[in-house]
Amino acid sequence: MRRRRHPFADEPPAPPEVLAELQPGQSVELLKALHILTRDGRLNQDSRRKLKQVNHLLQFIEPLLHEALEARGDVTLVDHGAGKSYLGFLLYDRFFASRPVGTVWGVEARTELVERSAALAQQLGFARMRFVAATVREAMAALPATVDVVTALHACDTATDDAIDFALQRQARSIVLVPCCQAEVAAVLRRHKALQLARTPLAELWRHPLHTREFGSQVTNVMRCLRLEASGYDVTVTELVGWEHSMKNELILARRTGRRKRSAAERLARMLDELGLAELQARFAVALT
Ligand SMILES: C[S@@+](CC[C@H](N)C(=O)[O-])C[C@H]1O[C@@H](n2cnc3c(N)ncnc32)[C@H](O)[C@@H]1O
Repeated sequence: MRRRRHPFADEPPAPPEVLAELQPGQSVELLKALHILTRDGRLNQDSRRKLKQVNHLLQFIEPLLHEALEARGDVTLVDHGAGKSYLGFLLYDRFFASRPVGTVWGVEARTELVERSAALAQQLGFARMRFVAATVREAMAALPATVDVVTALHACDTATDDAIDFALQRQARSIVLVPCCQAEVAAVLRRHKALQLARTPLAELWRHPLHTREFGSQVTNVMRCLRLEASGYDVTVTELVGWEHSMKNELILARRTGRRKRSAAERLARMLDELGLAELQARFAVALT
């Protein structure tokens, strides 16, 4: 496949402390445009954390893009809850810019962020970046029929579940999730206090709201994984970066096999039942086939 000249091919080298944090070929000018580097091309504590996190994630995503490209000669990635689209811009810079094919879509509910990202993409000449100013649910119809990779990085609360709905609907090859705050399951747990657990030592989970919230968050991610397995995906759960960089660092990576695991659907149904989460069936449950 013919390689294109990278738009930042001629930029001057970065200072050594910045260079140490960069991936090979990563553009300082882009990082400045994204405000990850300061205007004079330096890192502050916050931006160092962000850069580490996104670069770590890029290492997981890049092989998925290569796979899709090899399989069908094109690749489409949709990033849900894109925010300022750091991920999309850095992926474009690293993978898409030097290739003649491939498209990155950013879906973000806040119109002002989308407008800023679209303007930056135009300024940088990142012609195959597209943006949709909508919620994940609303954006469904505006997105292409064939999607290879779906990402949702710290997409708030149930936006992660909507991103899973989207990925399953499009039968995406890969799904990369870093879940964020999750309130929905904890709220239902708090309301029903998982009655089946009431006479067990696990009833202690409802004593302090913070513990209920964290337990709810774990339960949510466990059910997401089961849902993905039951829907034909292999799932790996790992850490995005060490605890010192972020409090929400669980990375869920799902790869499509097409083999729907009946036992995962059964275990998921039991979890919903035993934790008193029946009202969340529509969100998580997968029909047994
Ligand atoms: C914590 S930020 C993360 C942004 C970006 N992914 C990152 O890691 O830098 C979460 C973003 O998701 C957006 N968001 C929340 N719920 C959404 C939804 N249902 N649909 C689309 N975007 C949503 C918010 O507006 C916010 O910009």
